[in-house]
Amino acid sequence: MVKDMQVVVTGASGFVARNVRKYLSDNNIKLISISRKNFKKFKNETKIITKNYDEKTILPKLKNSDALIHLVGIGKQTIDNDYNLTNTEFTKKIINLCKKSKIKKIIYTSGLGVSKNTTLGYFISKYKAERQIIDSKLDYTIFRPSYIVGKDDLFTKYLKKQIKTGQIQIPGSGNYSIQPIYIDDVSQIIFNAIYKNKFSKIILDLVGSESITFEKYVKEFSIGTNTKIKKINLETVYHEAISNPNSNFGVDDLNLLIGDFKGDYKKLKIISGIKFSSIRKLLKSGSLL
Ligand SMILES: NC(=O)c1ccc[n+]([C@@H]2O[C@H](COP(=O)([O-])OP(=O)(O)OC[C@H]3O[C@@H](n4cnc5c(N)ncnc54)[C@H](OP(=O)(O)O)[C@@H]3O)[C@@H](O)[C@H]2O)c1
Repeated sequence: MVKDMQVVVTGASGFVARNVRKYLSDNNIKLISISRKNFKKFKNETKIITKNYDEKTILPKLKNSDALIHLVGIGKQTIDNDYNLTNTEFTKKIINLCKKSKIKKIIYTSGLGVSKNTTLGYFISKYKAERQIIDSKLDYTIFRPSYIVGKDDLFTKYLKKQIKTGQIQIPGSGNYSIQPIYIDDVSQIIFNAIYKNKFSKIILDLVGSESITFEKYVKEFSIGTNTKIKKINLETVYHEAISNPNSNFGVDDLNLLIGDFKGDYKKLKIISGIKFSSIRKLLKSGSLL
């Protein structure tokens, strides 16, 4: 059954999308992948390159698809790419595409910490996107990820770069924690969510088994590399984030870290039934370096 499935992926050149597409392709899923820019395609994959996801171009190509994985999203705003436009309004557009092309299932990555009581602009935009999906009458799985770890995610790349300079800077005390999940586990879970009933109409935290302080994570990441860890005053880091669009940490990266969010790993473990990778073992093995 899985063999004959066709799945659409939006935001195809992003970190999660690249890894998920590879996994699905390796598992013989037929892919229709959409991006604003050109990208390298995998086996069984059709590319759609479009600046604005124009319906006329896209719709005819989505026919006979079983699910859509919506991986477009931003965690840092600019004048041209803001949360409302890209996280909320764009999701509305994608829901309409699903309906018009008769795609029954949508899979969405929201964010860990999203709730109806949130006061953060980033979370509000994700919350509204979630509500639109739930109200759409499509079948859905909404994931709320913590930090997704891979060899090629932005934070891993940042750490590798800092190691080369001999010093990693961390914001504030580093006592706040993250609950990282490995990208290969994420790919496997998303693959299951495409066709397993257990994932129908559900919101799941996408987190690993271990909650770990930021300082400890960075220490374990850089173990054996002779790298110093320097704590930077939080006011200084926030100031940099507010005034410099190219700062290492964006305002909402900091908000998410300080937010210290914890997810429901047990529920994810029971529903997914997969064997999770231990992030600490991965760090110890040096395989992320
Ligand atoms: N990675 C994590 O740890 C993490 C944690 C929590 C939530 N998430 C969520 O998971 C999703 C994927 O994350 P990611 O880490 O893969 O992010 P990413 O590497 O930044 O990829 C997101 C993709 O969104 C697309 N995009 C951005 N702005 C757009 C716009 N204005 N119009 C159309 N497409 C636009 C781009 O795709 P193209 O360049 O291909 O067009 C981009 O590559 C996002 O929604 C993110 O918020 C990720």
